[in-house]
Amino acid sequence: MPVTMILGLQNGDEGKGRAVDYLASKNVDVVVRPGGGNNAGHTVVINDNKYKFHLIPSGVMAGVPCYLGNGMVIDAEVLFEEIKSLEKQGCDCSKIKISSQAHLILPTHKRLEEIEEEKRTKKIGTTKRGIGPTYADKANRSGIRVGDCFLDDGTLTHIINVHLKAHEEKLKDEFSVDFLFSYLKDVRKYLGQYVIDNLSTVVNDHISLKHKVLLEGAQGTLLDLDHGTYPFVTSSNPCAGGMCVGSGIGPTKVDSVIGVFKAYSTKVGEGPFPTELDCEIGEKMRQVGKEFGTTTGRARRCGWLDLVALKYAVQLNGVDYLVMTKMDILDSFEEIKICTSYKSPALGNKQWPQFPTNNYLLETMHPEYISIKGWETDTTKIRSWKNLPTQAIAYISYIQSFVGVPIVLVGVGEERDAIVSLDLVSQAIWKK
Ligand code: GDP
Ligand code: IMO
Ligand code: MG
Repeated sequence: MPVTMILGLQNGDEGKGRAVDYLASKNVDVVVRPGGGNNAGHTVVINDNKYKFHLIPSGVMAGVPCYLGNGMVIDAEVLFEEIKSLEKQGCDCSKIKISSQAHLILPTHKRLEEIEEEKRTKKIGTTKRGIGPTYADKANRSGIRVGDCFLDDGTLTHIINVHLKAHEEKLKDEFSVDFLFSYLKDVRKYLGQYVIDNLSTVVNDHISLKHKVLLEGAQGTLLDLDHGTYPFVTSSNPCAGGMCVGSGIGPTKVDSVIGVFKAYSTKVGEGPFPTELDCEIGEKMRQVGKEFGTTTGRARRCGWLDLVALKYAVQLNGVDYLVMTKMDILDSFEEIKICTSYKSPALGNKQWPQFPTNNYLLETMHPEYISIKGWETDTTKIRSWKNLPTQAIAYISYIQSFVGVPIVLVGVGEERDAIVSLDLVSQAIWKK
């Protein structure tokens, strides 16, 4: 009963969408997105056609049932538009199901985020999609869930009142009960056909039937609310444990955890980033790698691969296999650096081999690098390991031996098939 997780090991945008699409197109029966909202932007490129996913799992491209799990926060207007625009591109969205227990991102949440981010002296640099306030409302028990739209008018009015009361100080009378009531009626009208109860049971039924279930992670490990670079994190748990919660399956059901990372590092938003290259090399990565956000269009900050952080992420998620994307972006670099430890003046400049869990300490860390000669060869047409340049193999080997987990897929272009795959890799993953 194979259940496989695909999740991000860095700061998001590692190429999870393309990794999900690659595996789903081979052999998957159902894809579940456990968490996050439309802060995510997952890109899939097939025959020069670009598909962008924010709330819908990228697995939809494989034509299999796709479920939006309990742990997600859903902006109904965005979802409706996403379905329409994907259908225009020829995608079949008829097999999408939304958990009635997922929380709704409401107009109030987007307004609250504006007010809160405005007041902060040190900005987080959020995606401004209302993610934080929606998860905060969920924890505060003043949120509104997808299934609430189906309740009788009296109960729905009560839930709206609880929600508005929780925010009356900040929102004053900007939003009325009537406004939210008719908004939620529209949600029911436009999305009602996709909503199901008890998604957890549905997913577990698939597992019992020995269907191949793929869980599509969003965001990245360093953005995890409990384990990331707090407070510069998102408001959910993108790590493996969070994905179990968000999809309603027990950890014993998970067979493989596949961690996706980029051959270098990127980050959008604020917060510490020890290997950041605020120089020509970083600019070159940004331009060659087209490092501009899928969701907000913001320029992504770029830097060398950080193995201290990667090892931490591998440990935290219990990763079995690694997927390294965007190796082709390094094709033209003469020298490639890899961060293997940190040093901090705050700690007497002694070597610090572990990822600091305190954000203020992380801010003081300077990266210690090893350097390898670049391969300076076009890898974009290569599809087998034996044809990879020696230096690229040296790069791959160094990383996998440092973190202690094998790299099984290497991305050498954005197209679906631009992947160097270890023979039998998919079989190995599913058979485990
Ligand atoms: P996600 O959020 O983790 O799914 O990643 P994004 O889609 O936000 O960002 C990854 C970007 O890199 C997308 O534009 C992908 O099309 C692109 N991409 C993924 N893998 C590769 C690769 O191996 N090579 C190149 N050149 N582009 C890639
Ligand atoms: P995918 O799934 C990259 C970042 C934001 C910000 C922080 C908090 O495409 O990898 P939020 O709006 O979530 O409250 O913002 O988290 N962030 C992401 N960065 N990729 C993502 O998703 C992200 N989702 C959130 O930029 O720094
Ligand atoms: Mg993304």
